[in-house]
Order: sequence, then structure tokens, then C-alpha cells
Amino acid sequence: MRSILVLNAKGGSGKTTIATNLAGYYANQGKKVVLADFDPQGSSIDWLRQRRRNFPKIMGIEAYSAPIRVPKIADILIMDAPSRTHDEQLVSLLKRTETAIIPVVPSPMDIRAAQRFFGELKSLRPSIQNDVRIATIASRARENSRDTRNLEDLLYDFRLPSGRRFPFLTLIRQSANYIRAAQKGISVFEFAPLTTAIDREYWRPLIKWLGSRSSRP
Ligand SMILES: Nc1ncnc2c1ncn2[C@@H]1O[C@H](COP(=O)(O)OP(=O)(O)O)[C@@H](O)[C@H]1O
Ligand SMILES: [Mg+2]
Repeated sequence: MRSILVLNAKGGSGKTTIATNLAGYYANQGKKVVLADFDPQGSSIDWLRQRRRNFPKIMGIEAYSAPIRVPKIADILIMDAPSRTHDEQLVSLLKRTETAIIPVVPSPMDIRAAQRFFGELKSLRPSIQNDVRIATIASRARENSRDTRNLEDLLYDFRLPSGRRFPFLTLIRQSANYIRAAQKGISVFEFAPLTTAIDREYWRPLIKWLGSRSSRP
């Protein structure tokens, strides 16, 4: 089973938006998707509750309230991490996954918080033995803004002490489509093909990487 964690200690960085849209994407590809919500706020589970029966099924797990048991038939496990995840909780989430995606909002405050978070990931690396593959994306990004360029500069250059890069994959633009999708428990892959075309285009590099060998240990 493929496992993907969406992670960033900063609240509002777009974790739930990325996790739910990925879940919708894979469900539409015919995959059996489990969406595990580790955040006690339960936003991913709320999203799932809005989802109508005529959309491909996604199984939700309230991972914040009990240890998770993922059904054997699942093809993909998507994990939505809570904000303020640090230390042991961070290590324990990273140990569960092959792949982690870190969405960062291009704003000065979020960028500084992301730098601290990357520092933390570097220092925790020795305690995580499973060689998790980590990539970054810009989230809620305004195209061509100075903040977005600053974030891209930071993310392109980011390296672990081993010299390995966290690949910077794409930007997910700020768009009302994500708000509309969230209200209905769907993803941008599931409505208004013309209106969401640009959004889906921005997802392409992320989806490609997730399907490639280099996103797995
Ligand atoms: N790309 C986007 N475009 C527009 N709104 C977004 C986008 N990503 C997230 N949001 C909105 O920003 C808020 C925080 O996003 P969320 O995914 O809940 O972040 P997190 O899970 O990291 O706290 C939510 O109201 C969400 O609908
Ligand atoms: Mg969330």
C-alpha cells in the first residue's frame, strides 16, 4: 500500500486541502483510498461527510482518536497531519509513511516558520530510519507575486545535511475552486472541468512525482 503524509507544523498551510484533493484524485483513478485525519479538528473527516454518494468512495479514519487500522484492500493511505506537530509526534508520523509532502504558503511569516520546521526535520532525521522521501510545494500561492518567488528561491535551494534535496514540485494557486470543492466534499478533479483546468495543471508535477520511483524509499 502506498502511503503519503501531508505535513507542516504551521496551521493554515493547506495540509487538509492538499490531502483531500489528493484523496479525490486517486479515488477518481479507481484506487481504494483511505484518508486518515490525525488532526483533532477533524477537517478531513468533515470534508468526507459532505461528500455525496455519487462520487467515488473514500474511506475516512479518525486517526486522532484511536490507533489506526488500515484495511488490507486499501491501495493508498493519505494522512492529514495536525498543525503544531513536533518532536515525538512528528517522528511517529514520519515513521508511518513512505512519502511526505510539505505545503508552504508564500508569506514572510509562513516562510520563516517553514525554515524552522525544515531545521527540525533535519535534526530529527537520525531518529527516522525508514528513509522517507520528502517534497515541498507552495500552497495558496498567488502566481507571479514577490512572496511566491521568495518561497521558490528558498525551496529550490533547500538541502539536507546529506546533500539530498527536498524536491520543490509545484505551486498550488490560491483559488476559490478549493473553497467550493471543500464545501461539497469533492476535489478540483471532480467538478467544472473548464473552471478547474488551471488548478489541475498545477497539480500535475506533484502527481507525477508521487507516481515515480523517486518518491519512495
Ligand atoms: N489553494 C487554496 N486556495 C484557496 N483557499 C485555500 C487553498 N488552500 C487552502 N485554502 C483555505 O485556507 C484555509 C486553511 O487551509 P487548510 O487546508 O485547512 O490548512 P491546514 O490543514 O494546513 O490548517 C482553509 O479555509 C482552506 O479552505
Ligand atoms: Mg488541516
